[in-house]
Amino acid sequence: MYGLVNKAVEGLIRSRFGDETWGKIRTDAGVPDEPFMSMENYDDSVTYNLVGSTCKVLNLPPETVLEEFGKYWVLYTGEAGYGGLMQSAGGSFVEFIRNLDALHTRVKLSFPNLQPPSFQVAEESDRSLVLHYHSHRAGLAPFVVGLLKGLASRFKVEAEIAYKRVDGASAHDTFVIRWNPIS
Ligand code: HEM
Repeated sequence: MYGLVNKAVEGLIRSRFGDETWGKIRTDAGVPDEPFMSMENYDDSVTYNLVGSTCKVLNLPPETVLEEFGKYWVLYTGEAGYGGLMQSAGGSFVEFIRNLDALHTRVKLSFPNLQPPSFQVAEESDRSLVLHYHSHRAGLAPFVVGLLKGLASRFKVEAEIAYKRVDGASAHDTFVIRWNPIS
Protein backbone atom coordinates (compact mmCIF):
# COMPACT_ATOMS: atom_id res chain seq x y z
CA MET A 1 0.00 0.00 0.00
CA TYR A 2 1.06 3.57 -0.45
CA GLY A 3 3.27 5.04 2.28
CA LEU A 4 0.43 7.39 3.22
CA VAL A 5 -1.26 4.43 4.93
CA ASN A 6 1.86 3.42 6.92
CA LYS A 7 2.44 7.04 7.84
CA ALA A 8 -1.08 7.16 9.28
CA VAL A 9 -0.44 3.99 11.33
CA GLU A 10 2.68 5.70 12.68
CA GLY A 11 0.68 8.88 13.43
CA LEU A 12 -1.97 6.92 15.32
CA ILE A 13 0.59 5.08 17.49
CA ARG A 14 2.74 8.12 18.20
CA SER A 15 -0.22 10.33 19.11
CA ARG A 16 -1.93 7.78 21.38
CA PHE A 17 1.01 5.88 22.89
CA GLY A 18 4.11 8.02 22.38
CA ASP A 19 7.36 7.83 20.43
CA GLU A 20 8.92 5.09 22.54
CA THR A 21 6.04 2.68 21.89
CA TRP A 22 6.21 3.52 18.19
CA GLY A 23 9.93 2.63 18.28
CA LYS A 24 9.14 -0.79 19.82
CA ILE A 25 6.40 -1.52 17.28
CA ARG A 26 8.51 -0.39 14.32
CA THR A 27 11.46 -2.54 15.46
CA ASP A 28 9.23 -5.57 16.10
CA ALA A 29 7.74 -5.19 12.60
CA GLY A 30 11.24 -5.06 11.06
CA VAL A 31 10.64 -1.60 9.60
CA PRO A 32 13.74 0.63 9.23
CA ASP A 33 13.91 3.88 11.20
CA GLU A 34 13.21 6.12 8.21
CA PRO A 35 10.22 8.31 7.35
CA PHE A 36 7.55 6.69 5.17
CA MET A 37 7.16 8.33 1.77
CA SER A 38 3.44 9.01 1.22
CA MET A 39 3.59 8.60 -2.57
CA GLU A 40 5.82 5.51 -2.60
CA ASN A 41 4.43 1.99 -2.92
CA TYR A 42 5.27 -0.39 -0.06
CA ASP A 43 4.57 -4.09 0.02
CA ASP A 44 1.26 -4.80 1.84
CA SER A 45 3.26 -6.92 4.32
CA VAL A 46 4.71 -3.70 5.82
CA THR A 47 1.23 -2.52 6.85
CA TYR A 48 0.11 -5.99 8.01
CA ASN A 49 3.33 -6.40 10.05
CA LEU A 50 2.83 -3.00 11.67
CA VAL A 51 -0.71 -3.99 12.68
CA GLY A 52 0.53 -7.39 13.95
CA SER A 53 3.30 -5.80 16.02
CA THR A 54 0.90 -3.18 17.40
CA CYS A 55 -1.32 -6.04 18.64
CA LYS A 56 1.69 -7.78 20.18
CA VAL A 57 3.28 -4.74 21.86
CA LEU A 58 -0.02 -3.29 23.15
CA ASN A 59 -1.65 -6.65 23.81
CA LEU A 60 -4.74 -5.77 21.77
CA PRO A 61 -6.78 -7.91 19.34
CA PRO A 62 -6.36 -7.11 15.61
CA GLU A 63 -10.05 -6.13 15.31
CA THR A 64 -9.53 -3.35 17.87
CA VAL A 65 -6.36 -2.04 16.24
CA LEU A 66 -7.90 -2.07 12.74
CA GLU A 67 -11.10 -0.42 13.93
CA GLU A 68 -9.20 2.35 15.73
CA PHE A 69 -7.08 2.82 12.63
CA GLY A 70 -10.23 3.20 10.51
CA LYS A 71 -11.57 5.95 12.78
CA TYR A 72 -8.18 7.66 12.76
CA TRP A 73 -7.91 7.47 8.92
CA VAL A 74 -11.03 9.62 8.50
CA LEU A 75 -9.51 12.34 10.70
CA TYR A 76 -6.00 11.91 9.28
CA THR A 77 -6.91 12.22 5.60
CA GLY A 78 -9.08 15.23 6.47
CA GLU A 79 -5.98 16.90 7.93
CA ALA A 80 -3.12 15.47 5.82
CA GLY A 81 -3.86 17.46 2.68
CA TYR A 82 -6.94 15.52 1.53
CA GLY A 83 -9.57 17.66 3.29
CA GLY A 84 -10.82 18.99 -0.05
CA LEU A 85 -11.27 15.47 -1.42
CA MET A 86 -13.12 14.42 1.73
CA GLN A 87 -15.28 17.54 1.46
CA SER A 88 -16.18 16.86 -2.17
CA ALA A 89 -17.16 13.24 -1.47
CA GLY A 90 -20.43 14.20 0.16
CA GLY A 91 -22.29 16.42 2.57
CA SER A 92 -24.11 13.69 4.47
CA PHE A 93 -23.28 10.24 5.87
CA VAL A 94 -25.28 8.40 3.22
CA GLU A 95 -24.14 10.58 0.32
CA PHE A 96 -20.52 10.02 1.31
CA ILE A 97 -21.00 6.24 1.49
CA ARG A 98 -22.57 6.25 -1.99
CA ASN A 99 -19.51 8.13 -3.29
CA LEU A 100 -16.74 5.92 -1.86
CA ASP A 101 -15.76 4.46 -5.24
CA ALA A 102 -15.82 7.89 -6.89
CA LEU A 103 -13.62 9.18 -4.05
CA HIS A 104 -11.00 6.48 -4.67
CA THR A 105 -11.20 7.11 -8.43
CA ARG A 106 -10.18 10.68 -7.66
CA VAL A 107 -7.48 9.48 -5.23
CA LYS A 108 -6.10 7.33 -8.09
CA LEU A 109 -5.32 10.51 -10.05
CA SER A 110 -2.61 11.28 -7.47
CA PHE A 111 -1.78 7.63 -6.59
CA PRO A 112 -1.72 5.87 -9.99
CA ASN A 113 -0.86 2.40 -8.62
CA LEU A 114 -3.69 2.48 -6.11
CA GLN A 115 -5.48 -0.83 -5.63
CA PRO A 116 -8.65 0.60 -4.16
CA PRO A 117 -11.48 -1.27 -2.49
CA SER A 118 -14.92 -1.28 -4.09
CA PHE A 119 -18.21 -0.57 -2.33
CA GLN A 120 -21.83 -1.02 -3.47
CA VAL A 121 -24.88 0.26 -1.66
CA ALA A 122 -27.96 -1.99 -1.58
CA GLU A 123 -31.31 -2.22 0.21
CA GLU A 124 -31.29 1.49 0.95
CA SER A 125 -34.08 2.91 3.09
CA ASP A 126 -34.53 6.14 5.03
CA ARG A 127 -32.09 5.35 7.87
CA SER A 128 -30.42 2.10 6.83
CA LEU A 129 -28.54 0.40 4.01
CA VAL A 130 -26.46 -2.65 3.23
CA LEU A 131 -22.91 -1.95 2.09
CA HIS A 132 -21.02 -4.55 0.07
CA TYR A 133 -17.21 -4.34 0.28
CA HIS A 134 -14.86 -6.04 -2.20
CA SER A 135 -11.08 -5.93 -1.81
CA HIS A 136 -7.90 -7.51 -3.17
CA ARG A 137 -6.79 -7.78 0.45
CA ALA A 138 -7.84 -10.08 3.29
CA GLY A 139 -8.92 -9.33 6.83
CA LEU A 140 -9.69 -5.62 6.58
CA ALA A 141 -13.42 -5.74 7.50
CA PRO A 142 -12.75 -4.33 11.03
CA PHE A 143 -10.88 -1.45 9.35
CA VAL A 144 -14.04 -0.70 7.35
CA VAL A 145 -16.13 -0.78 10.56
CA GLY A 146 -13.80 1.88 12.01
CA LEU A 147 -13.95 3.95 8.82
CA LEU A 148 -17.75 3.90 8.90
CA LYS A 149 -17.74 4.89 12.59
CA GLY A 150 -15.31 7.70 11.76
CA LEU A 151 -17.63 8.90 8.99
CA ALA A 152 -20.60 8.69 11.38
CA SER A 153 -18.86 11.06 13.81
CA ARG A 154 -17.84 13.33 10.94
CA PHE A 155 -21.51 13.68 9.98
CA LYS A 156 -22.80 13.69 13.57
CA VAL A 157 -24.93 10.58 13.29
CA GLU A 158 -25.17 7.60 15.60
CA ALA A 159 -24.49 4.47 13.57
CA GLU A 160 -24.99 0.82 14.38
CA ILE A 161 -22.92 -1.46 12.14
CA ALA A 162 -23.40 -5.22 11.84
CA TYR A 163 -20.79 -7.13 9.87
CA LYS A 164 -21.54 -10.27 7.84
CA ARG A 165 -19.24 -12.32 5.60
CA VAL A 166 -20.71 -13.60 2.33
CA ASP A 167 -19.03 -16.86 1.25
CA GLY A 168 -19.09 -18.58 -2.12
CA ALA A 169 -17.79 -17.69 -5.57
CA SER A 170 -17.88 -13.94 -5.00
CA ALA A 171 -16.88 -14.00 -1.31
CA HIS A 172 -16.88 -10.55 0.24
CA ASP A 173 -17.89 -8.60 3.33
CA THR A 174 -21.20 -6.85 3.94
CA PHE A 175 -22.21 -4.30 6.56
CA VAL A 176 -25.76 -3.59 7.65
CA ILE A 177 -25.73 0.06 8.68
CA ARG A 178 -28.49 1.83 10.63
CA TRP A 179 -28.15 5.44 11.67
CA ASN A 180 -29.92 8.30 13.44
CA PRO A 181 -28.96 11.92 13.80
CA ILE A 182 -27.37 12.63 17.20
CA SER A 183 -30.02 14.68 19.02
C1 HEM B 1 -9.43 11.54 0.96
C2 HEM B 1 -9.58 10.43 1.67
C3 HEM B 1 -8.94 9.13 1.28
C4 HEM B 1 -7.75 8.86 0.68
C5 HEM B 1 -6.68 9.85 0.23
C6 HEM B 1 -7.65 7.39 0.57
C7 HEM B 1 -6.57 6.73 0.04
C8 HEM B 1 -6.34 5.39 0.16
C9 HEM B 1 -5.08 4.72 -0.09
C10 HEM B 1 -3.79 5.42 -0.56
C11 HEM B 1 -5.26 3.41 0.16
C12 HEM B 1 -4.21 2.30 0.05
C13 HEM B 1 -4.46 1.44 -1.18
C14 HEM B 1 -3.22 1.21 -1.99
O1 HEM B 1 -2.17 1.84 -1.72
O2 HEM B 1 -3.27 0.39 -2.94
C15 HEM B 1 -6.63 3.25 0.58
C16 HEM B 1 -7.18 2.04 0.95
C17 HEM B 1 -8.44 1.89 1.48
N1 HEM B 1 -9.41 2.85 1.59
FE1 HEM B 1 -9.18 4.81 1.15
N2 HEM B 1 -8.78 6.81 1.07
C18 HEM B 1 -9.58 7.82 1.55
C19 HEM B 1 -10.79 7.67 2.19
C20 HEM B 1 -11.40 6.48 2.46
C21 HEM B 1 -12.65 6.36 3.17
C22 HEM B 1 -13.49 7.52 3.75
C23 HEM B 1 -12.94 5.04 3.23
C24 HEM B 1 -14.20 4.53 3.88
C25 HEM B 1 -14.77 3.37 3.69
C26 HEM B 1 -11.83 4.30 2.60
C27 HEM B 1 -11.70 2.93 2.48
C28 HEM B 1 -10.51 2.28 2.18
C29 HEM B 1 -10.25 0.87 2.43
C30 HEM B 1 -11.21 -0.13 3.05
C31 HEM B 1 -8.93 0.63 2.00
C32 HEM B 1 -8.13 -0.68 2.13
C33 HEM B 1 -7.78 -1.27 0.83
C34 HEM B 1 -8.55 -2.51 0.48
O3 HEM B 1 -9.68 -2.72 1.01
O4 HEM B 1 -8.06 -3.28 -0.36
N3 HEM B 1 -10.93 5.23 2.14
N4 HEM B 1 -7.28 4.45 0.55
